[in-house]
Amino acid sequence: MQAISRRLGQKQPTAPLCSLKSIYPISDHYYGADHRRQDSTLATKGVGHLVRKGTGGRSSVSGIIATVFGATGFLGRYVVQHLAKMGTQVLVPFRGSEDSHRHLKLMGDLGQIVPMKFDPRDEDSIKAVMAKANVVINLIGREYETRNYSFEEVNHHMAEKLAMISREHGGIMRFIQVSCLGASTSSPSRFLRAKAAAEEAVLREIPEATIVKPAVMIGTEDRIMNKWAHFAKNYSFLPLIGDGSTKIQPVYVVDVAAAILAALKDDGTSMGKIYELGGPEIFTIHELAELMYETIREWPHYVKVPVPIAKAIATPREVLLKKVPFPLPTPNIFNLDEINALTDTVVSENALKFHDLGIVPHKLKGYPVEFLAQYRKGGPQFGSTISERVSPDSYP
Ligand SMILES: NC(=O)c1ccc[n+]([C@@H]2O[C@H](COP(=O)([O-])OP(=O)(O)OC[C@H]3O[C@@H](n4cnc5c(N)ncnc54)[C@H](OP(=O)(O)O)[C@@H]3O)[C@@H](O)[C@H]2O)c1
Repeated sequence: MQAISRRLGQKQPTAPLCSLKSIYPISDHYYGADHRRQDSTLATKGVGHLVRKGTGGRSSVSGIIATVFGATGFLGRYVVQHLAKMGTQVLVPFRGSEDSHRHLKLMGDLGQIVPMKFDPRDEDSIKAVMAKANVVINLIGREYETRNYSFEEVNHHMAEKLAMISREHGGIMRFIQVSCLGASTSSPSRFLRAKAAAEEAVLREIPEATIVKPAVMIGTEDRIMNKWAHFAKNYSFLPLIGDGSTKIQPVYVVDVAAAILAALKDDGTSMGKIYELGGPEIFTIHELAELMYETIREWPHYVKVPVPIAKAIATPREVLLKKVPFPLPTPNIFNLDEINALTDTVVSENALKFHDLGIVPHKLKGYPVEFLAQYRKGGPQFGSTISERVSPDSYP
């Protein structure tokens, strides 16, 4: 492990750690062994020494080659941006259209961001996208089921498979798994149970893996404030499931990406640790909705939906999902699994947090929610100053 930190050009860990080879036993059977022609493209015994060049900026070479699974998603773009900024080569496995990774290519120098088509169900294709890497970051996750993919397959089994392949790879120095705050094997939510099972599976395969558990993430492409603002604009009210008193600790997505990078760049202290990443303030759902209304400069209108009624609205999709021969719409405000998980979800007192990674998370009010200005009905300049609530009397 000292070799790892030395290669990464970082401070040596104080306690002597075992060598990489003893952590990740190198298997005799290597990828492509059955196919001679593929030998040269697949790493068999790690990726060799890190080559570092430059002063550390975007055009430098950090020596890290990271495969970021789930890079095409919301958090992915910020993680790739941070990686590219330090001169890391980023391998971007994607499964959908060629458009899904277009925005990422611009974040690095020519050839620095490498999109690679893969099939998450095909082990060989996963091995191929990991072959040249020395770091794996798993951001794959989905908070609803589809006809093709269950909660368990996406959130648990895929993570387990990635960890297993990384262990066999022999050259993966760091494995970072992104889980979710509130993930627990006893949660009423299948999504959160699957995330907890993934944490266990990853640590079983690679005890040195780092796990980060972000709270609900806020940012330009988020799926909470955008969803609410969109709904409020379309229907002139916002449904509050329960009475809106559930406590959450939303976090700015850029801080989560920074935390992942801080863990990656440290001297190995974050290895084998679990971090709970919540923002600096705890909000009730109602207070967060107020912040949304305040930023879009609309007068708040809520409809309180009792939990049993919310479940009744959300249930038909889940019941019909696998029974009808066509895809059903993505759940929006009424996601049955999320409704089942509606309990206070905040960072626990004893958990490792942002400050253990040397990061001070941003408050949400201000820049992190500025993107909501796009929902102002009179354009971004509508209303008076930011944070000043518009009353119905001041409507144009
Ligand atoms: N967003 C939040 O508020 C939040 C809060 C806590 C934790 N998290 C966790 O943080 C991670 C990143 O979140 P995010 O908001 O960036 O998620 P996201 O925007 O939904 O992106 C998820 C990524 O996972 C990939 N993915 C989903 N289903 C897949 C499948 N069946 N096979 C292969 N890839 C699949 C997606 O690829 P495609 O583009 O091909 O679909 C996408 O790249 C996830 O693990 C999530 O559970 C998110």
